[in-house]
Amino acid sequence: MPGLFIKKAEKEHRLTKDELTAILENDGINRELFDAADRVREKYVGDKVHLRGLLEFSNLCVRDCLYCGLRKDNKNLKRYRLKPGTVLDFARKAVSYGYKTLVLQSGEGDFYSTEDIASIVREIKKFGVAITLSIGEKTEEEYKLLRQAGADRFLLRIETTDKELYEKFHPGMNHENRINCLRTIKKLGYETGTGSLIGLPGQSIGSIADDILFFKELGADMIGVGPFIPNEDTPLENEQGGTFEMSLKVMALTRLLLPDINIPATTAMESLDPNGRLIALKSGANVVMPNVTEGEYRALYRLYPGKICINDTPAHCRGCITGKIRSINRVVANDYGFRKKIFKV
Ligand code: 5AD
Ligand code: FES
Repeated sequence: MPGLFIKKAEKEHRLTKDELTAILENDGINRELFDAADRVREKYVGDKVHLRGLLEFSNLCVRDCLYCGLRKDNKNLKRYRLKPGTVLDFARKAVSYGYKTLVLQSGEGDFYSTEDIASIVREIKKFGVAITLSIGEKTEEEYKLLRQAGADRFLLRIETTDKELYEKFHPGMNHENRINCLRTIKKLGYETGTGSLIGLPGQSIGSIADDILFFKELGADMIGVGPFIPNEDTPLENEQGGTFEMSLKVMALTRLLLPDINIPATTAMESLDPNGRLIALKSGANVVMPNVTEGEYRALYRLYPGKICINDTPAHCRGCITGKIRSINRVVANDYGFRKKIFKV
């Protein structure tokens, strides 16, 4: 049966929760699933791979997410916050390596005023690149100001659509508020990215199926999924963690259901398998987000252990990933890589 569901999804781009669950539970059909996602990727978004340079400008955070190395209660982490001039410096370098999109990511909080971030956005826009922000929950006014400053896209993972699990792993945070932030981001005309962690303790297959249905219901433009990797500096240090295979399945199913969106081969996937990003690119992904943070900071942005490329330079990563992409007969795109809506839901 799950084999038939994959065929249906490849044609119609919809599945019920039960059908998704049946596919997620059956590993005998994984090859079929990954190949179908690869075909749908090729048909709707083509062979170009979009590179987004990820600039991790601060690891300070006011949140205490149980799985995350940047959580405020983690005292084993040296904290940093780049000066706006340094952010611009790193951004300028990244643009010189050929990036057409920069993703500005940080922990959450008011360590910079929204006006400061807006002016960083305005300056970087002058370099002629698209900007994605990944800076967490803000008010509608703040999201609006940043959008007016020129930010094109916003990433805010829902992490899990299971409200109970969400609130357990995010002390003091509220699941409805997270969803409202995503709807606001969308309403303001950002390309909207979300995604979830796979393999959180207590996460059921049914709730992972709900995550995929949520991505579709929201009308997300970008979805990033990756395995939860236990961090020894967090309360979840002794938990099991998610698997590469399950994360890949969720990613492939997301491609089948949202055929024309942008889907990154995530860093966390490569952290579990040295070929993870290439495998992901052959199973539905069409985006890679190489790190463009310079110097010691990339090692300090330690969400989880085993994060790749922490001792490499942005120039090295750019060359490395370009070579890898070519090795699978794909091409590095040189346009901005906005979503082209092809499939009407
Ligand atoms: N394992 C995997 N991914 C993690 N993230 C945070 N901590 C971990 C971890 N231990 C992810 C979250 C967040 C993104 C920036 O990093 O999903 O949204
Ligand atoms: Fe960083 Fe390969 S992408 S070393």
